Amino acid sequence: MHEVKEVGTAELKYADKTYSYPVFEGSEGERAIRMGSLRQDTGLINYDPGYGNTGSCISDITFIDGEKGILRYRGYPIDVLANDCTFIEVAYLLVHGHLPNQSQLTHFSRLLNRKSLIHEDMRNFFKNYPEDAHPMAILSAMVVSLSSFYRELNMSVEEEIDLTVARLLSKIRTLAALSYKQSIGAPHVYPSSKLTYVENFLNMMFYTPVANYEIDPITVRALNKLLILHADHEQNCSTSAVRLVGSSGANLYASISAGICALWGPLHGGANQAVIEMLEQIHREGMTIDTCIARAKDKDDPFRLMGFGHRVYKSYDPRAKIAKKACEDVLNTLGIKDELLDIAVQLEERALSDEYFVERKLYPNVDFYTGITLRAMGIPTNMFTVIFAIGRLPGWIAHWLEQRDDKDQRIGRPRQIYTGPVKREIVPIEDRPE
Ligand code: ACO
Repeated sequence: MHEVKEVGTAELKYADKTYSYPVFEGSEGERAIRMGSLRQDTGLINYDPGYGNTGSCISDITFIDGEKGILRYRGYPIDVLANDCTFIEVAYLLVHGHLPNQSQLTHFSRLLNRKSLIHEDMRNFFKNYPEDAHPMAILSAMVVSLSSFYRELNMSVEEEIDLTVARLLSKIRTLAALSYKQSIGAPHVYPSSKLTYVENFLNMMFYTPVANYEIDPITVRALNKLLILHADHEQNCSTSAVRLVGSSGANLYASISAGICALWGPLHGGANQAVIEMLEQIHREGMTIDTCIARAKDKDDPFRLMGFGHRVYKSYDPRAKIAKKACEDVLNTLGIKDELLDIAVQLEERALSDEYFVERKLYPNVDFYTGITLRAMGIPTNMFTVIFAIGRLPGWIAHWLEQRDDKDQRIGRPRQIYTGPVKREIVPIEDRPE
């Protein structure tokens, strides 16, 4: 891990005393105050619900400038990676810190192929879920179950890291496709060593013994791109969940399973499903764009513009730009006319010129257009967040590994300000008020 640079001190005046804390800087000029001793020095804690202003770690993996709309993995701009690389190259980059050369890529791809099957006994698990079980529930349970089938490897040995990473990356895709096949009561399809990562996923999702299934190269290209857009996003809710669980010493599978659960929520990765459900509702109920905007602004109405707003981006999410273009490309090339895309474009145009959204710097985020693209590929709505989880996996793994090697890291354990009753006595049950 790269070192940070000390650039000065910040002073805090409290109760007639002045305390001094070091200020340090990362490689892109972002600064932080090292205040770990604040409570010990002053008795105060830093109250920051949602951790909007809390740096939980120093990281080499991903850089975001939310004001300028910049996103880079290991120094490479997201648009360049999305155009020039495959998801597997990007996964390798995130985990290892550098893009693979040809022999590294060949080795990694072979491992992915070799590790793509799941234990046959695990396939029985699928049978006991109700038909309408959400695939995210199944996926998180299956990923943590992997820890009972595959022993924990020595993650300080490079080869064993590669093996575990390949196992997880490869099996998550098999598990995801199996959960879909199970939900529609269709026969499970095994992975094939003749297909690439994304082709394999599509084949396991859509191949059926009773019809021809051709893997469409446009869909493969677009899905590769979407997975790359999702591959990491520094300390978001699910990555922080992975790090928090990992900080207790929990194994990689358990930590990733926690990340999947965190991602499921509609304010996070579940937003891609929520966006389509919102667009369908608008279409079904014939809501006008004006009504949607008015409802989204009304604090007494639970309706929010899903796929809009972001904790970090205060300008256009760079991923949303790429996702919008990919969406238009897929629909145009496949010759699909989707009325939901028209609604989405109109909503975006209207929101971007509305004072409420302008003042709050609310722009479309990555989820606004990805759902429409996935829909065009024939992916069912309840699988959208699963695709996000497959994409985010390399990022989660990279953060778990980085944290494990970070000497500054301790078990994650925030504080609180208690506002419940002060000490009180137990009243005998017969004397308690009715
Ligand atoms: N529609 C309407 N108003 C919104 C929206 C929205 N989508 N997003 C934020 N706002 C408003 C808030 O009500 C708040 O208004 P106020 O200042 O008058 O109280 C202001 O904008 C700031 O929003 P917060 O909720 O405080 O922002 P926060 O950083 O906590 O939340 C979040 C970010 C969760 C993404 C939020 O914008 C949201 O709920 N968006 C919709 C869900 C979504 O698309 N999530 C996906 C995010 S990307 C990802 O995780 C992959």
